[in-house]
Amino acid sequence: MTRRKLVAGNWKMHGTSADLDEIRAIADAAERLKGRVDVALCVPATLIHRASDAVPGFPIGGQDLHHQEKGAHTGDICAAMLHDAGASLVIVGHSERRDAHREEDEHVRAKAESGLRSGLSVILCVGESDADRSAGRAVEVVSRQLDASLPREGAAGSNFSVAYEPIWAIGTGKIPSTAEIAEMHSALRERLIAAYGAEGQSVRILYGGSVKPSNASEIFAIDDVDGALVGGASLKASDFLPIVEAAAT
Ligand code: PGA
Repeated sequence: MTRRKLVAGNWKMHGTSADLDEIRAIADAAERLKGRVDVALCVPATLIHRASDAVPGFPIGGQDLHHQEKGAHTGDICAAMLHDAGASLVIVGHSERRDAHREEDEHVRAKAESGLRSGLSVILCVGESDADRSAGRAVEVVSRQLDASLPREGAAGSNFSVAYEPIWAIGTGKIPSTAEIAEMHSALRERLIAAYGAEGQSVRILYGGSVKPSNASEIFAIDDVDGALVGGASLKASDFLPIVEAAAT
């Protein structure tokens, strides 16, 4: 089945209102490429409102959410707050949160379910450590991680994507070989079909970790790579747009 590629930027803890012109330039290009590739930017929570006002209709997302709908959770934000600020999607389970905030699979699953229930699109991240890759157990570890973090309901279709992000490839300039990416994405596709039946075919599997203009075309040509989650190279339109264009062709 053909799945339109999704290229999502993850700005992490970068970006203030001084960067709105970059967001406008990215949204303008996305408009020109409409129908050929889907583009989104997940910005810091403090920037969501201003960003979504600056580029109406262009998907702006958050980078995390609390799994509950409201309550005594100092510093956290919930799905309704993301919607209220203008977000239409959210990343859950990024390895930086799994690590620094000790988010376990069950917790990530609850976040994904909360986002989907509220009508946000969700990008669920999974990925192995350097040690797991070196020990030859990357596929086993990531498959298990996916099984344990997959939302039980509402996940089929283009509103739900999985991002395979090897931890050792994030921000390092290192990427797995084409064969390693292909092997992982095909294993994850099998897990999605095991969980959701034929609907598992409609879920996009993005690759993330050191995606750049120079390697994007090669990565997008791999079977079952349905787009990318891009960190560092999404901060400037001049780096991000060649990646978006590679996904559109
Ligand atoms: P990177 O980050 O593109 O800077 O490697 C990707 C990510 O962490 O989502």
